[in-house]
Amino acid sequence: MTAPTTTSVAPSDEEDLPRGADSGDPFDRDVLPTPPGATAALLRSLLAPMKARVALTTVLLLLQQAAVQAGPLLVAYAIDHAVPAFRDHDRGPLIAVAVGYLLSAAAGGALQYAFITASARVNQDVLLDLRGRIFRHAQALSVDFHERYTSGRLISRSTTDVESLRELLSEGLQELVTVVLSFVFISAMLLWLDLGLGAVAVASFVPLYLLVRVYQRRAGEVYRLRSTAIAAVIVKFVETMNGIRPVRAFRRENANDDEFRVLNRRHERSNGDALLEMARYVVGSRLVANTAVAMIVLWGAYRVADGSLALGVLAAAVLYLRRLYDPIDRLGMFLNSYQSAAASLEKIAGLLAQTPSVPEPSVPRELPAPQGELPGREVVFEGVRFAYRTGGEILPRFDLTLPAGRTVAVVGSTGAGKSTLAKLLARFYDPSDGRVLLDGVDLRELAVAELRRGVVMVTQEAFLFSGTVADNIALGRPEATREEIERAAKAIGAHEFISALPDGYDTDVRKRGGRISAGQRQLVAFARALLADPAVLILDEATSSLDIPGERAVQRAMATVLHGRTAVVIAHRLSTVEIADRVLVMEHGRIVEDGGPAELIAGTGRFSDLHRAWRDSLV
Ligand SMILES: Nc1ncnc2c1ncn2[C@@H]1O[C@H](COP(=O)(O)OP(=O)(O)O)[C@@H](O)[C@H]1O
Ligand SMILES: [Mg+2]
Repeated sequence: MTAPTTTSVAPSDEEDLPRGADSGDPFDRDVLPTPPGATAALLRSLLAPMKARVALTTVLLLLQQAAVQAGPLLVAYAIDHAVPAFRDHDRGPLIAVAVGYLLSAAAGGALQYAFITASARVNQDVLLDLRGRIFRHAQALSVDFHERYTSGRLISRSTTDVESLRELLSEGLQELVTVVLSFVFISAMLLWLDLGLGAVAVASFVPLYLLVRVYQRRAGEVYRLRSTAIAAVIVKFVETMNGIRPVRAFRRENANDDEFRVLNRRHERSNGDALLEMARYVVGSRLVANTAVAMIVLWGAYRVADGSLALGVLAAAVLYLRRLYDPIDRLGMFLNSYQSAAASLEKIAGLLAQTPSVPEPSVPRELPAPQGELPGREVVFEGVRFAYRTGGEILPRFDLTLPAGRTVAVVGSTGAGKSTLAKLLARFYDPSDGRVLLDGVDLRELAVAELRRGVVMVTQEAFLFSGTVADNIALGRPEATREEIERAAKAIGAHEFISALPDGYDTDVRKRGGRISAGQRQLVAFARALLADPAVLILDEATSSLDIPGERAVQRAMATVLHGRTAVVIAHRLSTVEIADRVLVMEHGRIVEDGGPAELIAGTGRFSDLHRAWRDSLV
């Protein structure tokens, strides 16, 4: 046997993306279709609860600017008035200037401290809120969403994207407000000090503004590419590590290395592009700034010489200019973080705008009171048609009635649609046409909590959460006592192996149940389902990881477990089928045979063939 051929990704061609990178499906891209205005609405809704605190931080920043920008004025006063007065033996003005300078610096520092702590608190709350929203929303989205939007993408949303927003909030935004404020303050100050010099400074804003616009346009594109590139790196990483066993088994390491190298290089290159844009911007803006300073110094010197300008005013103007142009580099950096944050926010907004395809009913209906003693309920598939979003129709008009309290076995070849039937009954998906009814109530009209109580599915891939074995069984009914948990485990024959674990029921199953085998995991999942005590129990190949004795043990327990419930047992091994009241043979999304097990075995149909082949395989 040869290993499956891997995609040919030529590492030399950096444009080449690994398979599936652009299939035209929006889910393969990072930005899901975002309704117009969703990004702005998200930002507003994040900031709305902290309006007052945002206002407070703004006021603090204004006061801080006023305090800090007093400095050069004091210098002008010192040069033009205090120093001459001091020469005339009047120390008062100079002392006043020194004290004033110290006071404004101290006030500026104190206000800055207050501002930083206040804004940090706002930022932390915004990010906390956002991370929570992403988690809750992603968790609430339906199964078909998660089949298409990889967990790597979700991780990248709640790490890199939230992080770039954090950068914007904690550094960038403060930077922008400071820069804008100091532009306004300083321009006003310069114009007030000297109209001519002020006008030169203000005129320099025109080329600066144009530079910023050009930079913004170019960097926006570069940043979007960069954040897509980093997301692709994360997705590849997560996917590879999640599938580390098949990666090893099929020696995918080298192919993965190549694909990862391509993605990594693409990220590196987009980083380089971003830096290049930044460098161009910084050089351009410094050129403009220094030209303006040179012009003002030259012209100012002439005017000081001819006596139309005081030396102190020129000194103050130059000091102000430095303060004016210094933050321009940082303005570029702010625009950087603004660009990445905007790209990130757009992606997060796109995710949050997704609605569950299996929604909770707005006015849920109650199930009728159970008929008689037993918990089972009647299940009806009524003209059900179903297709996965990514493929053709799996169930073409399906009608089936499962009477309450009976066990039905479903057999059929792989891909026949058995699991699809089970997933529709558990409402992981809604049918594209027709209805699935539980005691006459459409599953879509049931509150999801009630549905989950009523219908429980045990599958092949019994998943264990971190926590103890007991915790994992108790998932079925969180309020269950230890006695009830143990009784459930005993009923399905899991008690022996659990007792043999190092801490018995309190053994930690960390690492996805790494410590216990697949078969044992299935037993835990069985116990969980039994404890949940549902009206409808679906077993989808739920005993396939058990060995023959293990399966026998479960089978003996099965009669108790299934008694009185409506049960759908999907099984490969026909031994499981014999306990059923009725057997359905399914092919290509249709029931091709339907009858009691003995009746079908005695007949001449597919089941009787299957059964004969299975018998022969046993001897
Ligand atoms: N999540 C899915 N997305 C798209 N197609 C799917 C999905 N799950 C199953 N299918 C397709 O539906 C068909 C029936 O699958 P399934 O119900 O799992 O069959 P069975 O359980 O009988 O082996 C198969 O052709 C399979 O490729
Ligand atoms: Mg299946």
